Amino acid sequence: MTARPDLHDSAFLRATRGEPVPHTPVWFMRQAGRSLPEYLKVREGVGMLESCMNPELVVEITMQPVRRYGVDAAIFFSDIVLPLKAVGVDLDIKPGVGPVVAEPVRTLADVEAIPDLTPDDVPFITEAVRGLVGELGATPLIGFAGAPFTVASYLVEGGPSKEHARTKAMMFGAPDVWDALMRKISGISAAYLEVQVAAGASAVQLFDSWAGALTPRDYETHVMPHSARVLERAGALGVPRIHFGVGTSNLLTLMGEAGADVVGVDWRTPLASAVPLVGDRAVQGNLDPTLVFAPTDVMTARAGEVIEAGRAAKGHVFNLGHGVIPSTDPDQLKRLTEFVQTYPL
Ligand code: CP3
Repeated sequence: MTARPDLHDSAFLRATRGEPVPHTPVWFMRQAGRSLPEYLKVREGVGMLESCMNPELVVEITMQPVRRYGVDAAIFFSDIVLPLKAVGVDLDIKPGVGPVVAEPVRTLADVEAIPDLTPDDVPFITEAVRGLVGELGATPLIGFAGAPFTVASYLVEGGPSKEHARTKAMMFGAPDVWDALMRKISGISAAYLEVQVAAGASAVQLFDSWAGALTPRDYETHVMPHSARVLERAGALGVPRIHFGVGTSNLLTLMGEAGADVVGVDWRTPLASAVPLVGDRAVQGNLDPTLVFAPTDVMTARAGEVIEAGRAAKGHVFNLGHGVIPSTDPDQLKRLTEFVQTYPL
């Protein structure tokens, strides 16, 4: 059913299904990006969104960490707010800040003014994914989208937020507006994933980076049904679905139940504690991203503990417990990749 049946037996895809693997597969969130000098070079004078809409650049940037580290999966170079930009929302990604929205969404009329996403809005995504699957050969490509809550936070706050106070005020105080907004975003995110899989992505990851701001009760009532719709549409495409959030130790069971095949675990939760919470699902994670700044033997000892904890799971994909920090030494990530791929199972 996937566009690349030849990748079915790759270590990464086998692990997502909980099948035996030759080695623990490894990739890193934000493996492409500012930690790589070759990234900084090709991005010189080119804005973030502009880069995401340039297929040639997307292929090059996505390939950079694959060439350098030999990781078991590539992650498509894009951003969670790119589909909003593609449908006409006035936003930018400011260096060192993140996504900034010119006119924050506050009313039902604001929500209704956001168009739905069709494949015709993102021809450059189709072109980039097609180019990538050709270049990647035996390495699977992970497509991704932002989950409704995390994307809603940028739209409602107008930019990055610690407390997500306006977003949660809408969630608690204007349920009809909230429901309309979450339906709008879930439709856009699902359509964005469908475009990537139709063009050849072998798996998808739904990023709900800020879901950790919610209690389990509010997550379950106001957020989970919308994420579940995105994951259901992705599931219909026959590719494994990874569901990741930050600070979500008390949400892991629900995030699995939302329809994930693999639950991404951030570094604050010991992997051994996460495994029983996700039931019959694989896990992804979760080395503290700052451990790459420790001496190599300290880093690899901790990585070994993560791999050992992963044995109890249905399947385990090794990753950091959040994105690569821009000041990371790529040579250290190379050593980490080799350590994981040669760790005896
Ligand atoms: O290698 C990869 O992981 C693929 C690319 C990727 C980017 N953004 C590229 C990017 C992915 C998967 C994302 C997802 C994303 N974007 C998330 C979810 C993942 C997470 O980290 O929790 C979120 C919350 C965003 C929103 C966003 N976009 C932020 C917070 C930032 C960083 C702002 C900054 O400058 O510190 C961005 C910009 C961004 N997206 C960069 C990259 C490589 C940095 C911009 C640059 O290089 O100029």
